[in-house]
Amino acid sequence: MQVDVLLGLQWGDEGKGKIVDVFCKQYDLVARFQGGPNAGHTLEFDNKKFILNTIPSGIFNEGTLNLIGGGVVIDPVTLKREIESLKAAGSDPVGKGTLVIARKAHLILPTHRLLDAASESKMGAGKIGSTLKGIGPTYMDKTGRNGLRVGDITLPDFKERYEKLKNKHLEILSHYGEIPAFDDKEKDFMEAIEFIKTIPHVDAEHLVNSYIKSGKKVLAEGAQGTLLDVDFGSYPFVTSSNTTTAGACTGLGVAPNKIGSVFGIFKAYATRVGGGPFPTELDCETGEKLRQLGHEFGAITGRSRRTGWIDLPALKYAIMLNGVTDLIMMKADVLDTFETIKVCTHYKYKGEVIDYMPYEVITNQAEPVLEEIQGWNQDVTGIRTKEEIPTALKNYIDYLEKALEVPIKFLSVGPDRVQTIEL
Ligand code: GDP
Ligand code: IMO
Ligand code: MG
Repeated sequence: MQVDVLLGLQWGDEGKGKIVDVFCKQYDLVARFQGGPNAGHTLEFDNKKFILNTIPSGIFNEGTLNLIGGGVVIDPVTLKREIESLKAAGSDPVGKGTLVIARKAHLILPTHRLLDAASESKMGAGKIGSTLKGIGPTYMDKTGRNGLRVGDITLPDFKERYEKLKNKHLEILSHYGEIPAFDDKEKDFMEAIEFIKTIPHVDAEHLVNSYIKSGKKVLAEGAQGTLLDVDFGSYPFVTSSNTTTAGACTGLGVAPNKIGSVFGIFKAYATRVGGGPFPTELDCETGEKLRQLGHEFGAITGRSRRTGWIDLPALKYAIMLNGVTDLIMMKADVLDTFETIKVCTHYKYKGEVIDYMPYEVITNQAEPVLEEIQGWNQDVTGIRTKEEIPTALKNYIDYLEKALEVPIKFLSVGPDRVQTIEL
C-alpha cells in the first residue's frame, strides 16, 4: 500500500531505465514524476535497444500501466515521436491503453526551446550545458504561473493561451538578438498537440492514490540524478526539478508517509554530462578508458560524458536526502580490466579534510582523498548468480555497503535485462 521510488544518486545516467524495466513486472503502475525529454533512459533486451525520454520504463510489460506524472514537463513533439517509434517496433502503448498522462503536466513550447538555447549561448564558459530541450524555461513558466498544461489543450481557448505565452517568449527573445525561424516547429507542435489528445488524460493524484488504497503496487521512476536536484544539487549546474524522493511526492501527489522502499542507483564509478563541479573527475587516460569501456556518451545528445572515480561523500549525501533503503550498483563490468580501483572517501577543502559536500564548490573545488582497492581483473558480464561474483568484487561491494550504511541489493554487470543479479 505504498509507493516505491527508484532514482539516481549521482549526476544522472546511472541506469535507471534498465532497472525499472527489470523491476516493472512486480508493479501495477510505473510513474515518471519529474524532468522531461532531457532524460534518456536506455532499455536492452532480446537484442533490442530502446531509449525513452518521457515515457516511463515500465512500458514493455503488458500488465503495467505507465503514467507521465504532473511533475513532468512534456514536449508533445518528442512524446509523439517516442510513441511512433514504439509503434514501429510493434508495441503501441496508445493502442494497448498502457500509457496515460497527467492533466497537470506542463507543456514545453517551441519557444521554450529557443529561450533555453538563447540563455545558454549568452552564458559562455559558465554555461550549464543544458540538453536544450526547453526544461529550464518551462519550469520557470510553471513556477511563474504562466505555463500551459496538458489539461488546457482541450479547452476552447487553448490557441489564444498558446499565442499569449508565445508572444511573451518572443518579447524576451528579442532582447537576446535575432529570433530564429520556428514556423516548422510550431506546425509540428500543433500536430503533436492533436496527437496527444488521443492519449488518456488523468487526474494523476487521484489515480495514484486509488492504486495505493486498493493495495496495488506503484513504482515512481526518477529522471536525472540527486546531484542535479534544483535545491540540493551542485547549483547552478543542475536541472530545474526536484530529482529526489520529495519530488516523487510533489510530482505525483503522494503523501510522504505513503513512500515505501527507496531504491538508489549508482554506477561503480562516476560520470557527469554538462558543466559544473566534479571532484573525482579523471581528465586523463584512465578517464578516457572509463568513457570507452562504459560507452559514456549521452543517450540523447551524444555528448561525451565526463568520467571519474566513485565519490562516497556525494553518495552519502544523496542517500541522506532520499532516505534510500536499498542500493543498486550498476556497470561493475566496466571496471573488469582495472588492476586497482580508486574510491573517494573524503575531500580536502580549504586546508581541511571533510566528508561532506561543501556549499561553495565552484571557485574552490574540493580535492578528493582517494583510497585504492584491489580490482577483480576478470570478465563479469556472464555471471548471473551471486555465488559467481569474484572475491575482489564482493570485497568492493562489502566495502561500499560498510561506508554507505545501506545494503546493496542488486548488481548490474551489463546493459541487458538478464545481466542483473540479486544479492
Ligand atoms: P538512465 O538515464 O539512468 O536510464 O541511464 P542511461 O540509459 O542514460 O545510461 C546508462 C547506459 O549504461 C545505457 O547505455 C545502458 O544501456 C548502459 N548500462 C546499464 N547498466 C549497465 C551495466 O551494468 N553495464 C554496462 N556496461 N552498461 C550498462
Ligand atoms: P537521465 O534521466 C544526465 C544535465 C545536463 C546539464 C544539466 C541541465 O537520462 O539521467 P537541462 O537540460 O535539464 O536544463 O540540463 O543537467 N542533465 C542530465 N545529465 N542525465 C540526464 O537525465 C540529464 N538531464 C539533464 O547535461 O548539465
Ligand atoms: Mg540517461
